Amino acid sequence: MSEPRAFSATVSAIVQDGTLVVTIDNPPVNATSADVRSGLQQALAHAEQNADVTAVVLTSAGRTFIGGADIKEFGKPAVEPTLPAVIEMIEALSKPVVAALNGAALGGGLEVALACHHRIASPTAQVGLPEVKLGIVPGAGGTQRLPRLIGIPAALDLIASGRLVKAGEALALGVIDAVAEGDLVDAAIAAASGLVGRPLRRTGPLTVAAADPAEIEKTAAKILAKARGQKAPAEAVRLVTSASRPLQDGLADERSTFLALRDSDEAKALRHVFFAEREASKVDGLDGVKPRPVTTIGICGLGLMGSGIAVAALGAGYSVIGLDQTEDAADKGRERILGLLQRNLATGRLDQAGFDAQASRLSVTASDADLEPCDLVIEAVFDDLAVKTNLFRRLDAVIRPDAILATNTSYLNPDEIAAATAHPERVLGLHFFSPAHVMRLLEVVRCAATAPDVLATGLAVAKALRKLAVVTGVTEGFIGNRIFSAYRREAEFLLEDGALPHEIDAALEDYGFPMGLFAVYDMAGLEIAWARRKRQAATRDPSERYVEIADRLCEAGRLGQKSGRGWYAYPDGKRTVDPQVTAIIEACRAEKGIAPRSFSVAEIEQRLLKAMADEGSALLAEGIAARPGDIDLVMINGYGFPAHKGGPMFAKG
Ligand code: 3HC
Repeated sequence: MSEPRAFSATVSAIVQDGTLVVTIDNPPVNATSADVRSGLQQALAHAEQNADVTAVVLTSAGRTFIGGADIKEFGKPAVEPTLPAVIEMIEALSKPVVAALNGAALGGGLEVALACHHRIASPTAQVGLPEVKLGIVPGAGGTQRLPRLIGIPAALDLIASGRLVKAGEALALGVIDAVAEGDLVDAAIAAASGLVGRPLRRTGPLTVAAADPAEIEKTAAKILAKARGQKAPAEAVRLVTSASRPLQDGLADERSTFLALRDSDEAKALRHVFFAEREASKVDGLDGVKPRPVTTIGICGLGLMGSGIAVAALGAGYSVIGLDQTEDAADKGRERILGLLQRNLATGRLDQAGFDAQASRLSVTASDADLEPCDLVIEAVFDDLAVKTNLFRRLDAVIRPDAILATNTSYLNPDEIAAATAHPERVLGLHFFSPAHVMRLLEVVRCAATAPDVLATGLAVAKALRKLAVVTGVTEGFIGNRIFSAYRREAEFLLEDGALPHEIDAALEDYGFPMGLFAVYDMAGLEIAWARRKRQAATRDPSERYVEIADRLCEAGRLGQKSGRGWYAYPDGKRTVDPQVTAIIEACRAEKGIAPRSFSVAEIEQRLLKAMADEGSALLAEGIAARPGDIDLVMINGYGFPAHKGGPMFAKG
């Protein structure tokens, strides 16, 4: 084995049995930054020119092969060599080049691997072209080389969804050629030596396999239907489906499309979301703070929310003890949880062994004392202060002194709930979104007395549950529901001022929300919000503008889809504008002497966006939210705000 030789600050190599083993070491994710590209270029030139080198292995240090192009370089002046130039050099090299995928090969990372003459991966490696999630398309050959390897339908699925596949599936699809059983680099060197002197399988010159046009059309239609106005998926479909044309034409088209999209508002917004997600985990005051160990989670209240939390916890490997008021309610809770697990079994998200393991970690009880082994107890009972404080007082007496108590309240003040315990420092809020086993967002509420290691534990559990955690301070409704209230209020002002529900909904859907606000209300049911409004009526400031339209609808028995009508009518289940609703709205306007005016789509969008952003600014000023990006993440992941618009704070500019 030769002495290591550096080709740049991030690329070095050794020669082993005539093979130049090139290692990229560019933490944190070995992105193909300028220094990596330059180092690879020089290593490849060295391999080509040096007679002692008979083959090349490309691999990386750390857990990732290559995480993709360096997103932080986007928007900066281009630095030679470009990634496509390096990739062309790899494919054209006269000596075999083997990619040894030691971890994730994503985006530009997979594009590097696709140009190699053989790909071997460690069993834990993953591959994917997630560019569409950043509002772009692969820009270094991915849309042209992947279809040459695995055909158009499979390439379309991977590129347009951006999903990552594990080594086993990548092998079955033909993205990689082998999975290494033993040492990856040794296996790659052996594979490279075996290719010396043999014709090389270069991906670029391969012919794209013929595919059934009907199948392609069906897959493409599905992708476009999901795109909701985003450009990248449509461009990905166009590039992949035309991959049969000459390679150079396809590559040129792909590159210019990539460059145009990279500078688009959509891509800027999605990059903002990408970095905001990474920032969100950095929380003030937690540096060096160790979370407490958690293996058993207690869940109080096994209704829809509690059951969803239980399923998420079981899926993350925790033992769960569910508590409900009576044996009967606890048994019903167990059935509900097992029913959700069974659904995962039926859809293939869980195999029988996984189901059995999860079910065996679940127990239910009606006795508080049975929660004694819990490291963390999450309550998901009725959102009423007396109910919750009473429960916390009881729990405080039965759980271990080092165990943590979390409330899932949406609107109550968790400081008041904490005050009911002898140890408020071990209380925090974990505000899940329904259904809790599906929704990615989790607001982690830092209460006035929450100890740093309790907060750190909340964040660690959130990560284990694979949730996107956003820390919020205490305020009514926390970050999400407070902004949602402001947005809802503004929508009701718009109603009173002259817009109709379907016009507001159409504007929101046009903006990229999956469903308009009033349609969502109808789906969720109007009665809970109505009950809250009635509770608040006595303390409401009479000088504040209050819109009575929703109350009138509820009084008329229009409680949403469940009652067959709400903001809309649902003849045959189809959402339809209802003249009776229009009449109620007109009557309310008339009572207040409001002369209605018409609103353009743009005006509706601007008013609603401004209401959200203004409330977001207030949350920042009050120190409830730490960063504008945190607010954006909450609205995107909990309230349907389109990610490709970056969230209300980003969108306001
Ligand atoms: N460029 C620059 N920085 C990146 C990056 C990238 N491609 N990918 C990740 N990072 C940074 C993150 O911002 C984070 O920085 P921080 O520590 O300062 O916050 C750090 O790397 C670690 O990232 P994660 O916290 O996400 O680490 P994980 O270990 O959880 O995940 C990963 C690693 C799976 C590689 C994940 O980071 C990821 O999915 N990255 C993005 C992958 C991607 O989208 N690649 C395509 C890029 S575009 C492209 O390649 C265009 C090409 O076609 C020309």
